[in-house]
Amino acid sequence: MPGTCVIGLQWGDEAKGKLVDLLTERNDLVVRYQGGANAGHTVVAGGEKYKLSLIPSGIFNPRVQCVIAGGVVVNPPTLIQEIDGLLARNIKIDSNLLISDRAHVILPWHFIEDRAMNEGTADGEAIGTTQRGIGPCYRDKVGRSYAVRLGDLYRDSIGPRVERIVAVKRQVLAGLADVAELDAAKILAEYRRYAERLRPHVTDTTTLLLDALEGNKRVLFEGAQGALLDVDHGTFPFVTSSNSSGVGVCNGAGVPARYVNRVLGVVKAYCTRVGGGPFPTEQDNATGQHIRDRGNEYGTVTKRPRRCGWFDAVAARYTARLSGADSLAVMLLDVLSQLDEINVCTAYEINGRRTANFPSHVDDLRCAKPVYETLKGWKQEITDVRRIEDLPANARAYLDRLSQLVGRPVEVVSVGPDREQTMFAKL
Ligand code: GDP
Ligand code: IMO
Ligand code: MG
Repeated sequence: MPGTCVIGLQWGDEAKGKLVDLLTERNDLVVRYQGGANAGHTVVAGGEKYKLSLIPSGIFNPRVQCVIAGGVVVNPPTLIQEIDGLLARNIKIDSNLLISDRAHVILPWHFIEDRAMNEGTADGEAIGTTQRGIGPCYRDKVGRSYAVRLGDLYRDSIGPRVERIVAVKRQVLAGLADVAELDAAKILAEYRRYAERLRPHVTDTTTLLLDALEGNKRVLFEGAQGALLDVDHGTFPFVTSSNSSGVGVCNGAGVPARYVNRVLGVVKAYCTRVGGGPFPTEQDNATGQHIRDRGNEYGTVTKRPRRCGWFDAVAARYTARLSGADSLAVMLLDVLSQLDEINVCTAYEINGRRTANFPSHVDDLRCAKPVYETLKGWKQEITDVRRIEDLPANARAYLDRLSQLVGRPVEVVSVGPDREQTMFAKL
């Protein structure tokens, strides 16, 4: 069983980083394959807290090969800063970190475009991006003519290419602030320096991964964002610009589907969303604030307060199916302690019709009224519980109901950020 994926089944921040760190010891390689520094994955190890944007959460195990695959969009200074930050904390980073020469490079104009794009969609509501240049970089990748891949930075052709791109961007973006500052020669010199620094890590990771999988090595794929942010299958246009559901693993990493044998779907015991877009179970009230306070729900990357709400089983069932999840990891269960009652959304009412299917159009999701089932809360703290059977009966009943509604068994339960605060069920 060489390929396992960890996929967020909500709108991101489901604690994928914690889970990947835990599963790393059972694997030989850990791979990030989509997204970029819009991701913020937290790992708490040995009492230390680490925030990772581009580097796989397997990096704390020096035996393991970490890979940033071709589907990722890389901002070189951010990556270098992240490497330096980890080196300064005595984390080993040398040949154990490899980066695809096919990965696309985020360049200064992408930040300008991201700021402009964030003013609002055609309908007015802003996507609320992380402002990391992600969407514009992916747009140039698909558009091809003005894209730069990491491997391009080592070729003589990069000079004239950047000059051509800068000339076009200055025209297209004329009128936007900062455009006049785009200087091809300066940018070129700067990015050549970054490229030299990264050179020992840059390689053809597609071949590396195919060799590893064909050689029966165990590979863990670390999804970024969550399935509801998938550009094709999420709450479009309030999504990110990559395939962040389970369907994105193969194209992002460059591996055939047959090697993806096991998918672990990660959910919070409730829901959060950061940025714009519909969120049917949102609790913009004292309950939402209770969750935000207890879960410390502020963005890892942008520090924005996360919008909080009840668990949405309609959405999770959809994304578990879409992502091919075999089982669920239910994270941050401890955050729900102390509530008298806990609601779970089991269906939507859309224009007077009840449905358990997740709508494909954002307008339908916007007017979806959640149908709730109310379960009893538990009034004791559970952060010290170490066996699922030792959880309060109401907490176990809650997990059972989530599992039933989503249609997948619960394999992992997390009751705190530390490695020790994790329980594995025997399936
Ligand atoms: P990711 O982007 O999916 O990796 O998730 P983030 O790191 O952005 O957000 C998850 C946050 O929850 C981090 O601050 C974690 O340290 C924290 N965390 C992880 N598991 C638990 C848990 O079971 N309980 C609590 N209270 N916090 C957790
Ligand atoms: P991790 O991997 C939560 C959201 C942004 C915005 C939308 C588009 O930590 O779970 P983008 O900058 O990607 O163009 O923004 O997607 N978003 C995330 N939300 N967790 C993330 O990553 C996210 N990455 C992007 O807030 O709504
Ligand atoms: Mg995060």
